[in-house]
Amino acid sequence: MARLSHVAVMPARPFRMLHRASATEVVVNVLLPVAAVVLSAVVALVAVRATGGSPNPLNHLGYPGVVLAAYLYGWRGAVLAAAFTSFLLGPFPALAGWAGGNEGPEAWAIRASMFLLVGGVTGLLFTRTNHAQDALREAIDEVAAGRHDAVIAMARGAEAKDHNTGEHVVRVGSGAEQLAREVGLGESSAIALRLAAILHDVGKLHVPDRILMKPGPLTAEEWDVMRQHTVWGERILANGHGFELARRIARWHHENFDGTGYPDGLKGELTPLEARIVRIVDAFDAMTHDRPYRKARPVEAALEELERCAGREFDPELARLLVSIIERGALDGHE
Ligand SMILES: [Fe+2]
Ligand SMILES: [Fe+2]
Repeated sequence: MARLSHVAVMPARPFRMLHRASATEVVVNVLLPVAAVVLSAVVALVAVRATGGSPNPLNHLGYPGVVLAAYLYGWRGAVLAAAFTSFLLGPFPALAGWAGGNEGPEAWAIRASMFLLVGGVTGLLFTRTNHAQDALREAIDEVAAGRHDAVIAMARGAEAKDHNTGEHVVRVGSGAEQLAREVGLGESSAIALRLAAILHDVGKLHVPDRILMKPGPLTAEEWDVMRQHTVWGERILANGHGFELARRIARWHHENFDGTGYPDGLKGELTPLEARIVRIVDAFDAMTHDRPYRKARPVEAALEELERCAGREFDPELARLLVSIIERGALDGHE
């Protein structure tokens, strides 16, 4: 992470963006603000001349442009803007031979010093603030990344007891995110769903290995234990701050649309949308990948299964949308 002590040498934001900026970004972040600063100085000049030339209180109109340059480009930009504005309001009219006003070099120098001082100080302060904001943003990103890694580690821990690669939970997470976007959930909801979906089977940590890894079919009692992973998952996530969505998904990702699922037998839209999304993405991923007790099915067969079970196991609208994502080859991990 960058340090605050680097403040004085850090260029302000727009210059840093030039590294990989598109032409539009250059125009928006650099040229337009420069034009605004220049225009501000020209407006000050016109106002001063239109009201009789210097000395004139309207010379103070030079400050907004200098402060704007300080905000946009730090102290370097402010110093340039201060020099330009000072020239425009001072020597320039005299050099151009414009009548009006009776200022001399002392007045120009004092005004230029004030522009430079105000621009330099505000530029340093803005640069410092921008840098502190960047540091804060980086810290937030690091915390988010750490949380993401911890979630994946926990989910893979649960999956390691079940199947062995650890990729199932990641695929279900990204598939759920894609389906959420297709449904029309917003960007942040879709991303939150990905992280929460990764934890859908975390309750399997409590399921004994002899059941999870049993190569043959489970007995009725073993199925009862297996189904409990939904409730255990909810309990594991009960005390974690920010795991409300993951908790709902862990509990209800095996509910069927017709009410025949578990653990609560919720019907239709009584199951939260996010859990219905994970229900179908999880099922499709399980169908199309090897499990200890059976081989993966071809995608075509899995698609037929999705359509056949729409309205029974799966929300029919979600089934339709997931089929369309898969048919255009856009589902991550299932090219
Ligand atoms: Fe599950
Ligand atoms: Fe799963």
